[in-house]
Order: sequence, then C-alpha cells, then structure tokens
Amino acid sequence: MVSLTHVSAYLLRHRHDVTYFPQMQTGLQARLQNTHLKYSAPAGTNVTVLSHSLRLRPLSALAQGDRRTKPNIDWDSLGFGLKDVAGSMYTATWTEEKGWDAGSLQPYGPIPMMPSAQVLNYGQAIFEGMKAQYTVDGRIVIFRPDKNAERFAAGAQRLSMPVVPEAQFVNAVKSVVASNADWVPPQGKGSMYLRPVLMGSGPILGLGPAPSYTFLIYAAAVGSYFKGGQLTPIDLIVEEHFHRAAPGGMGGTKAAGNYSPVLVTQLNAKKNGYSDVVYLDAKSDTYLEEVSSCNIFIVKGKTIKTPPLQGTILPGVTRRSIIELARLRGYTVEEVPVPVTEAMEADEVFTTGTAVVVSSVGSLTYQGNKKQYTQNGQPGNVSLEMYTALTDIQTGKAADPADWVVKVL
Ligand code: COI
Repeated sequence: MVSLTHVSAYLLRHRHDVTYFPQMQTGLQARLQNTHLKYSAPAGTNVTVLSHSLRLRPLSALAQGDRRTKPNIDWDSLGFGLKDVAGSMYTATWTEEKGWDAGSLQPYGPIPMMPSAQVLNYGQAIFEGMKAQYTVDGRIVIFRPDKNAERFAAGAQRLSMPVVPEAQFVNAVKSVVASNADWVPPQGKGSMYLRPVLMGSGPILGLGPAPSYTFLIYAAAVGSYFKGGQLTPIDLIVEEHFHRAAPGGMGGTKAAGNYSPVLVTQLNAKKNGYSDVVYLDAKSDTYLEEVSSCNIFIVKGKTIKTPPLQGTILPGVTRRSIIELARLRGYTVEEVPVPVTEAMEADEVFTTGTAVVVSSVGSLTYQGNKKQYTQNGQPGNVSLEMYTALTDIQTGKAADPADWVVKVL
C-alpha cells in the first residue's frame, strides 16, 4: 500500500502522466498493479472511490522536450534560478461555467495564451514562494502550506480573481513535490523552490477581469538567494526616491505587479555593490517598509521590531514564523513602525522571506551614511539564532510543536 502522493510520484517516474484530483479523500490508499490503480480505504474509513479519479496517459503522448528523466544536478553549485527546473508542473483552469477544474500534472513547458490575455495587458496575477526540502530523517516536507493558501486567496480577492480552495492549493503543491522528488536537493544542499501562480489568462480588451484563469505551479532545485551564500551578510541601501507601495494600494498582496517597479532601484543598487534596497513609507519617508524581496527586522538588546501589517508590506510566512519563534525564545517582539533612524542605531538587522530564509544584514546605507552591523563576513548573533531556530524545525532537527512542517513523502 502506498499513499496517493507516492502513487503520483511513482507513476511519473514510470513514464505515465497522472491527472491529480484534489478532491480525492486523504485517507484513501491506492495500490499499483501494472498501470492500473486498485483503491481501498483504511479500515473504518467511509470513502467514496471514483474509478476515474486518476487518469493515466502514456508519456509518449506528451509534447517533445519532456525533461522528466532523472536530473543530472550539481548539488554543490545550486544558485537561485531555473537551471535545474523540475520536470513537471501543475496547471488548472477556471471558467465561469465550470469553476476550477481538477488540474493536472504535465511536463514543464510553454503555456498557450492569446495576445489579449488579461494578464499580459492589465497584469491580473499573483504568485507564491514555497520550499520543499529533505529532513534529517529522510522525509520530504513543505512548510506551513495553509498560510500560503490563505495569502493566495486574499491576493486573488484583492485582484478580482477566483479563489483557489485551500485543499486544491495544498494538494496541487504536494503533487508537484511528489512528482519532482528527484529535484529536491540532498539534506543540507538546498531546497526545491515552488512557484504557484494565479493569473487572468483569458482574453479581454476593455479593462475588466479575465473571463478565465490559470493556476499553475512549477518548481526548481535552488540554493541560497543572495550570491554570497546563505550566511554571508548582505549590504542594503535605503531607497530615497521611489516607494514600493502606498496606503490603499496593493503592497500587502503578493501581486506580480509589485515586483517589476522595484527593478530600477534594485539594479542600480546592485551596480553600486549593494545586495538590495530597503523602501520607506510613502507618506512620510520615515519608516522602514520592506526590502524588494523580503521583510525586515531590527534588533536592540532583547527587543526585536518589525514594521506592522497595514496593507503596504507583505504578510510573510517566514516573517510570522520568526515573530512566533523569537517570542518563544524570550525576545520582546514588536510589530510597530520602525524609523529608519532607529534602524541606523540598531545592534543588528535581518531580513526574512521564503527565498532568503533569514539573512543577516551586514550594513545599511542611508543618506550617504553607512551603518556596519557585522564584522568579517560573519552573520549577526540574533540573525544566526533565528535562522537556526527556523531551519532546525524545517529540517526535523528540532521539535515542531505547532505542526508547521507537512510531510509529502
Ligand atoms: C519568496 O521569498 O519566495 C519570494 O517570492 C520573493 C521573490 C522576490 C523571490
């Protein structure tokens, strides 16, 4: 007997395509006999078994360029990119008449879209970032997927798109992980980054919501986000001309449209030797908001402060987890407006995000003044403590009392 996620992975590795039906009940067990699945339920479980719930298609029927062979990845030189993109992706479609279809796994590749697709013209799109990784005891796990599903739903509503139900979202993520298990780096070498996207893919000319939507998830094996490596402190500069978000806007949404306007400042900062940019609030140019790609925290003694969620910064899953972990470790954590001048006087600064995990900030430059927090390329003590506390839970080295870690395989 194997679980459903095992079955998906098994079939994909044996060159069959599986249409994954999220509504399948979790207690259900499936047994593989050649290319047929026999279903049975654990004793005492009341389940309805739909014989068509998993559809098999020979892989030969799929498009050329399929990459679903065992990947040849150099696990010691993983960066944050698409070099080692996973072989299969999930796509589902929403229409007014049918709502969300069940979605399916297919080879990673181009998706058809008309030039008049809403997303290409008016930008109706949100995305998520998640990671799957090996624990020290050999499980493949994901982290707090319910929180990503929740934020995805809030973002969909903000951009007038249909909500992907939590069960469909989480099951789709699990199916992508299970079917691409070969792309999950060995323990300690990195993770498999998952990118759920929801977009208005249907055509429209006048400004309005798309008539149809695509929900997709692709994945890639990745290493650390910043070039210097996970524990090397990053140098940030405070942006003094552009703002990332304004009150009443969509800064609190993981909208694709929040990430292109930051490029002009980010690229300029990189040219001048900085890793990224910190934005200030649009009203007063006084308080920290967030970095282009992550949330920000400052540390003074045993007090940690981070900007509050008032609609202009992203409600990060890592941000929330670090707040909870820091409190458990005896820090006072305040979600309050943080003046940039206070950050320049802090003992330490760090950033959090799925991609960056927890990154120690080496220096912050504001109005030409540079505040150095760390020495000799070493991360700050609190940054390192919080990084370790989080990743120990994620990798099964430490207890997971709140059930943040969800096993896939
Ligand atoms: C993440 O942290 O997962 C993100 O989506 C940020 C992105 C800029 C890489």
